[in-house]
Amino acid sequence: MPEVILEAVDLDYFYPDGTNALRNINLQVEKGEKLTILGSNGAGKSTLFMQFNGLYRPTTGCIQYQGHAISYKNKALIELRKKVGIVFQDPDSQLFSSSVYQDISFGPLNLGLSEHEVKARVKQALFDTETTDLEDKPTHLLSYGQKKRVSIAGVLAMEPEVIIFDEPTAGLDPRHAREFMQLLKKLSTEGKTIIISTHDVDLAYSWSDRLAIMSSGEIIAHGEPGELFLQPELIERADLALPWLIDMYCSLVEKGWLPPSTPLPKTKADLLMIIPLVPITIKPML
Ligand SMILES: Nc1ncnc2c1ncn2[C@@H]1O[C@H](COP(=O)(O)OP(=O)(O)O)[C@@H](O)[C@H]1O
Ligand SMILES: [Mg+2]
Repeated sequence: MPEVILEAVDLDYFYPDGTNALRNINLQVEKGEKLTILGSNGAGKSTLFMQFNGLYRPTTGCIQYQGHAISYKNKALIELRKKVGIVFQDPDSQLFSSSVYQDISFGPLNLGLSEHEVKARVKQALFDTETTDLEDKPTHLLSYGQKKRVSIAGVLAMEPEVIIFDEPTAGLDPRHAREFMQLLKKLSTEGKTIIISTHDVDLAYSWSDRLAIMSSGEIIAHGEPGELFLQPELIERADLALPWLIDMYCSLVEKGWLPPSTPLPKTKADLLMIIPLVPITIKPML
């Protein structure tokens, strides 16, 4: 049985203005898994994440960490945030120190670690997020993508068990988005539990072990990505689209080029392996 590390139980949340942003959320996060919360804008993804490390308190229901409902007392919250780290969507809400190095070292310093350990963690986080060149730069002079990477470094340096990334690739250029995905792979092989939110269906399909699809504050489905993406009515209800790989696969099956029993391709390389390739000769135009 996989160990459940984090869980939302019968959770409802109302913002002070009365917006019912989360409705009857029940979700188990398994230790070491790669989970994506997939949903369009306003679905409730960020609000759910704020519940996961105690920034917001459920109106009803609860969040459990390792089987125990979390406490909202200051000391308990500090302990929880050592274990559950969040990288916010907007890096400006995460960075507050004057230099990159100071910013990344802030969390580890507050953990009471030795100077040597803090330095080692910051160096590793700088390296992992390719921000080593920026360590002496004032944070307010960084570009958006650089701020985003530094905010990720700040959370990595805390070495939490569970790392939550809210729309991590939004605003990153293609190279840095790709490298970020490599970093997620590395964190995952190190045994971290990783939760991301996105509306990028290609990313959700290729990266996740499991998906939870949100719409209007509810989790309308959760399960294995391939299974969920083969339910068009579900994808439509959540205002999403099909990942290009599944779209292409469905068209090939529809045209009779692939038998319906063909396993779903997870990557472009998988797709190229299963397409019955026929060499095409193009006659030169006279
Ligand atoms: N501070 C707030 N006060 C009132 N409503 C909010 C606030 N923040 C978000 N909402 C509302 O809560 C719902 C969920 O928002 P959010 O969690 O940001 O969605 P997502 O991250 O999926 O885009 C939306 O209807 C949004 O308008
Ligand atoms: Mg959001």
